[in-house]
Amino acid sequence: MPKGKIGLVLTAAFLVSAPWVMAGAQGPESIDLKEKFQVEGGMKAVIFPHRTHQAKLACSSCHLDPEGGGKLVVELVNKVGIGNDFHKKFCWPCHVEMQVPQGKSCPTCHG
Ligand code: HEC
Ligand code: HEC
Ligand code: HEC
Repeated sequence: MPKGKIGLVLTAAFLVSAPWVMAGAQGPESIDLKEKFQVEGGMKAVIFPHRTHQAKLACSSCHLDPEGGGKLVVELVNKVGIGNDFHKKFCWPCHVEMQVPQGKSCPTCHG
């Protein structure tokens, strides 16, 4: 094989196998939303199972970019109390629509 071609093949293999490249595209397996969005309050932090959701849904269900990552389809502004935007605008409406078992039960998300 000519030298240039070997280089190309090696680069391609490297890009495909590099775990940080994969992690970058798919994002984290799970996300501590309390920490990520700097939510204050007494409830146990929600560890969002990102991968579980990716397995069931298109990225565009939650992200503006159809390839995923970056901005979410909703703006999460109100982070206080039971009427917060996570509940009202994001997690609950979809759980109700998709009939997720115990989808609005506190322990499902708050551990
Ligand atoms: C059910 C909702 C949901 C789905 C579906 C979803 N994500 Fe996410 N994703 C989130 C949330 C919530 C975050 C954390 C908030 C944030 O990082 O802004 C996130 C974060 C990410 C991040 C990290 C972004 C950053 O700036 O740190 C990447 C990358 C990502 N998602 C990619 C994807 C891809 C690719 C898909 C489709 C295969 C996907 N997501 C599907 C909800 C979802
Ligand atoms: C666009 C739809 C959608 C959104 C938005 C969404 N979910 Fe879900 N969620 C689902 C579906 C569908 C399931 C059921 C997955 C399954 O049965 O494997 C689920 C299941 C779950 C589960 C249970 C996972 C398990 O292992 O059984 C948790 C916890 C959860 N969601 C948390 C959240 C949180 C927290 C948010 C908001 C930050 C959120 N979800 C937003 C669709 C959504
Ligand atoms: C589908 C997921 C989901 C369910 C079910 C859920 N929550 Fe939440 N909740 C969240 C997310 C996400 C946040 C914001 C991130 C965090 O606090 O970790 C939040 C934040 C909160 C907050 C504001 C922050 C704080 O610590 O005070 C309160 C209060 C709260 N939830 C109460 C409840 C109660 C009570 C229930 C049961 C009736 C419940 N939640 C069910 C996802 C959920």
